[in-house]
Amino acid sequence: MDSLALYIHWPFCLAKCPYCDFNSHVRERIPQARMVAALRRELAYEAARIGPRRLTSIFFGGGTPSLLDPENVANLITDATGFFRPDQNIEITLEANPTSIEAGRFAGYRAAGVNRVSIGVQSFDPAALAFLGREHSADQAVQAIELAQRIFPRLSFDLIYARPGQGEAAWRDELRRALSLAADHLSLYQLTIEPGTKFALRYGRGEFALPEDDAAARLYDATAEEAARFGLEPYEISNYAKPGGESRHNLAYWRYQEYAGIGPGAHGRLTWGGRLVATSRHRGPEAWAEMVEQDGTGAHPEQIIAPEERAREALLMGLRLAAGISLDDFLVRTGVALPDAIEPNILAACIEEGYLRLTDRALIATAEGRKRLDALLPALVR
Ligand SMILES: C[S@@+](CC[C@H](N)C(=O)[O-])C[C@H]1O[C@@H](n2cnc3c(N)ncnc32)[C@H](O)[C@@H]1O
Ligand code: SF4
Repeated sequence: MDSLALYIHWPFCLAKCPYCDFNSHVRERIPQARMVAALRRELAYEAARIGPRRLTSIFFGGGTPSLLDPENVANLITDATGFFRPDQNIEITLEANPTSIEAGRFAGYRAAGVNRVSIGVQSFDPAALAFLGREHSADQAVQAIELAQRIFPRLSFDLIYARPGQGEAAWRDELRRALSLAADHLSLYQLTIEPGTKFALRYGRGEFALPEDDAAARLYDATAEEAARFGLEPYEISNYAKPGGESRHNLAYWRYQEYAGIGPGAHGRLTWGGRLVATSRHRGPEAWAEMVEQDGTGAHPEQIIAPEERAREALLMGLRLAAGISLDDFLVRTGVALPDAIEPNILAACIEEGYLRLTDRALIATAEGRKRLDALLPALVR
């Protein structure tokens, strides 16, 4: 039976962080009951179309899903594991903000079936937390991590580095503190300026600067070095895990496997009758809910993804992984042989420079190559 990863989007936050362009919204009163009813209805709609599958992961992302009442999370998990056949190792992750956590809620999520949390810590430095517009303190973040360690079998947290003025020594210190608290997984993102955010405006006005490329590259190398000392390997550009601690849900994206996405703005990649389709949903929470209430789904018309486009997507995702792209899987998932999807001259040059490795089983971006992926891919991909 084919496998499936399920993403459920919760689109609300207590405040909008100035760097964030995720589909997240602030409301004076969050219409939780209405939204959850719509999520459950859309999940039923999608499950009926998809048919029987082995469900390998559920990911509650956002937004801030830790604003959901545990009983609502429980109902969504019960629905999903009733519609699909849960894998015996099913991974069920919920993203949590340190601000929206109370002990009771964590215990409630665990009882609902959540077996992994991903906490948005962002920094342990009070000045950085203020700059990033976070509503929680470093102490609250530590408390949330310690509580999660006691309650959940698996735990990850996120940090944002390469912040304005951040030097290597300061980042190594902060990272060591993080690593001393870490369990099996960390997500370590370099700050990016996303169009349409408050930071884009302020950055455009010259209010702050980001580290230059070579300084950022040194921070990246320092990150991998420190993480390795604690036994965490960079299995993806921004994700570090102990062996077996990798996010199975995110691996499904990077390996270009099938996933369903429900809730406002959620994406999916699903195969119907031998064709791979891209599903997407209306981004506005209330407009999406209205569509679900009328039609059972807030989906936009589906797009069939042609083999060349599949190949492009699979390359963009797969080269992020340290393990690279399996040539066999690539052919199965895209219908295109990998050598036919890339520019041979650019491939040769990348191999020569030490950015890519091609074996008889896989195409792999080296650590140096993964640092330059954004620059390499447009030339490499046909
Ligand atoms: C959907 S957010 C989720 C987590 C949760 N809402 C929170 O903020 O705690 C996923 C993660 O992406 C990262 N992120 C978002 N925007 C970013 C940016 N512009 N640069 C770097 N990292 C970013 C943050 O680390 C954030 O925790
Ligand atoms: S970073 Fe998290 S809390 Fe902040 S706006 Fe984005 S989704 Fe919401």
